Order: sequence, then structure tokens, then C-alpha cells
Amino acid sequence: MEYSEYFQRFPDAYARIVAGLDRVNTLYAYLIDSGVLDGADSILSIGAGSGEVEVRIAERTGRQIAVIEPSQSYFDQFLENVKAAGVQELLLEAHRTSFEDFQPRRQYDVVLSLFSWFAFELDRELLLKALACRDAEGKLLICLPTADCPASKISAISRSSGINLTSEQLSAWARNEGFDHDYDVYHGVVPAELYLYGDELTEQGRDLASFLAATPWEEMSDELRQMSLAAIQSGKSGDQIDHASGCLIFDAGKHAASE
Ligand SMILES: C[S@@+](CC[C@H](N)C(=O)[O-])C[C@H]1O[C@@H](n2cnc3c(N)ncnc32)[C@H](O)[C@@H]1O
Repeated sequence: MEYSEYFQRFPDAYARIVAGLDRVNTLYAYLIDSGVLDGADSILSIGAGSGEVEVRIAERTGRQIAVIEPSQSYFDQFLENVKAAGVQELLLEAHRTSFEDFQPRRQYDVVLSLFSWFAFELDRELLLKALACRDAEGKLLICLPTADCPASKISAISRSSGINLTSEQLSAWARNEGFDHDYDVYHGVVPAELYLYGDELTEQGRDLASFLAATPWEEMSDELRQMSLAAIQSGKSGDQIDHASGCLIFDAGKHAASE
């Protein structure tokens, strides 16, 4: 199964997982607290999904947003979210297309790829294209799970291709290609009881495992179920689980362009 097909097939499962992760609150807080949006008026999000974080940025901070999202259902949901939040006047552009096919018409203060770079893997041309979408002092932020994150461990055994890129792999490759950047970690911490009940996975835990492994729980072998349980348990620290994600920040004002 190809990466884009995977999201077309399981949009609801992904929405449930993101809700369980409390992603909107924690990621929004990270983006504000890390200062990555400081001084930025316009934001382009590549692979925005239904765009809750982007809409919240517009709603709470008045920044202008633009999105690229190929999946029709996510795209429609994004437009509904924009309407529900009443931020239509802050929506610069919405492109229902892949980033590969996207034709930039302007530059943006910040370009975001929040858990969407899986689709592009280690593609130099696409990294150059994303960097060129920033303006002269702008930033590109790419966020992906770390190798230690439970999600990466389950993705490594997934039936879907292209979802096991980690932030460390992308960062090492980018440095090697001459693209200097800062590296920061966003901690998406959730209560362990969301996924674990004793030595078993809760329904949310099974949803997470099934989605990442691209295999319905009923179709998973005992071995796959045990591997998923072990992956999630490995992220447990006290009564919490940290879905740690690495953020690569390519700051045009700070790092010399390697293009
Ligand atoms: C893991 S989701 C992340 C969604 C959202 N940014 C978030 O953080 O929840 C990955 C997104 O990338 C989109 N995507 C897949 N292939 C893409 C491509 N070639 N160009 C742009 N986006 C793509 C998917 O449709 C999906 O919405």
C-alpha cells in the first residue's frame, strides 16, 4: 500500500489517533513556545491533513495560513474547520494537490511539514522545493517521530510503505547533503492508561497499532500484536508515554543556503 492511499483508506482511524494524542493542543503549544513562529505572518503547511493546528494558529494568533493537502476528505474537513473557526479571511490558499504537483506562486514566512515528510523520504529536489517556499528570512520546520518513539517502532513493521522515516534519519541525511539545520524535540506526552491496561492494549492502543501497522487488529498475528504491545510499553516512563518527535528547523536567516 502506498503512503497517500493509506491516508485515503483510513481517514477516520487517523483522526481518532490524533485526538487521542492530544496533538492539536500539544503541537500548537510547541509551535508557539519554541518561537518558530515568532515574527511570521504567513504560514504554508505541506500535507496539512484536516489542518486543526493550522486553523488554531490562525484563530488564536491572527496569522495567515495556506495549505497543501492531496486527500479530498482531509481537504474538505480542513475547509469545514476554517469555516467553523471563522478564519476564512486568514486563509491565503488551499491547494488540494500533492506537494510534488504544487506550483508555488509566492513565498511564506514559515513552511511546516507536520508528520507529512514520510511521503517524500530522502528526496533532495523536494527538500530544495520546500526550502524555496520560505522567504529570505523564513524557516522550514519538518517534524517526524524519533526512532525511539513507539509509533516509529510499530511503523517499522507496517504493511504500508514509506511510513518509517524517522527524524534522525532525515536529519542525518540532510546534514550530509549540506542542508544545515537546528534539531529540537517536541514531546507529545499522553497518559499511559490511554493505550495500556495492565499487560494489554486498550482499544485506543489497538487503534494506534492497527493504523501504524496498516493491519486491522483482527487480522494481526499474535506475534504482531505482541510486537505492538512491546513497542508501546517501551515508550512508557512512569505513568506517561512520550511520542517524541524530532523537529528539523531550516532557518534561512541563520544557516547559509546550500542550494
Ligand atoms: C500523518 S498525516 C499528517 C497530517 C497533519 N499534518 C497532522 O500533523 O496531523 C500526513 C498527511 O500528508 C498527506 N500527504 C500524503 N502524500 C502527500 C504528498 N505527496 N504531498 C502532500 N501531502 C501528502 C496525507 O494526505 C496526510 O494528510
